[in-house]
Amino acid sequence: MTDLSTRFLDCAFANPLMNASGVWCYDQTELDALNLSAAGAYVTKSCTLEPRAGNPEPRYKATPLGSINSMGLPNLGYRFYLDYVAKHDYARKPLFMSVAGLSLEDNLAMVREIKAANVPAIMELNLSCPNVPGKPQIAYDFDAMDAMLAAVCREYDKPFGVKMPPYFDIAHFDAAAEILNRYPQVAFVTCINSIGNALAIDTETETVLIKPKDGFGGIGGDYVLPTALANVNAFFRRCPDKKVIGCGGVKTGEQVFQHLLAGASLVQVGTALQEEGPAIFARLADELAALMAKKGYKTLGDFQGKLKTL
Ligand code: FUM
Repeated sequence: MTDLSTRFLDCAFANPLMNASGVWCYDQTELDALNLSAAGAYVTKSCTLEPRAGNPEPRYKATPLGSINSMGLPNLGYRFYLDYVAKHDYARKPLFMSVAGLSLEDNLAMVREIKAANVPAIMELNLSCPNVPGKPQIAYDFDAMDAMLAAVCREYDKPFGVKMPPYFDIAHFDAAAEILNRYPQVAFVTCINSIGNALAIDTETETVLIKPKDGFGGIGGDYVLPTALANVNAFFRRCPDKKVIGCGGVKTGEQVFQHLLAGASLVQVGTALQEEGPAIFARLADELAALMAKKGYKTLGDFQGKLKTL
């Protein structure tokens, strides 16, 4: 028998699969669908201090190789998500709460409330949204990231994680990991958010695909799998005391397997979940189990983080 169960931050997971924040997690209906799905856990939409309508539509488009989006953090405000996570049945499955304040002060205000509520939800601090005009991605500004983590660690009292953008240079892997390693309270690193500020074009109409930011947006899906795997492995190697959550380019059980092999402990699904719906989790779990059985692996620990080099 193949066993997909795992433990993460002292919580039991039936399998390592969950949604990527931003996909199928905006409101009660979507969140409840994830709760009922075969996902081992799920995460709420990245929230801000006040509700946001987000960027003008169209702001998401699927493409033959994935998707492009510039949603602009549409969300119901942190009070809605805090209320949702407070009511969740944690015996059923673990739940993460994603936080993406528009400023350090906003993040600290939300973190104070989350701490006061003392909910069992696991906080994922989003340092990498590429889609809010005028707000650069915090994790591309190492001084700002350091200041953010120092302040949040002072304010918050539980282990939490950070959602990172992709990096593309070894020096940047080194620099980002060195900062993360200053904060033992940062217990996990989610790699990666979408590759920001790409441009997809419709040849026929000679136009961009999405309206915000003159068509610039974050890409996900097939485009990003190798970049996601590289970032997972880079942070797995550099942050031995932290867990890594893999995110990017997952639409088959084989790709879940690759993320786990590269060092991920859990694996998030974005574009493929958006396109296929929450039933995708049962398919991915079946495909992962079948691949493990074919390889003679009985548990995730038999291969997780054991990627070979030449
Ligand atoms: O635009 C968005 O809401 C996306 C957020 C993110 O990628 O973190």
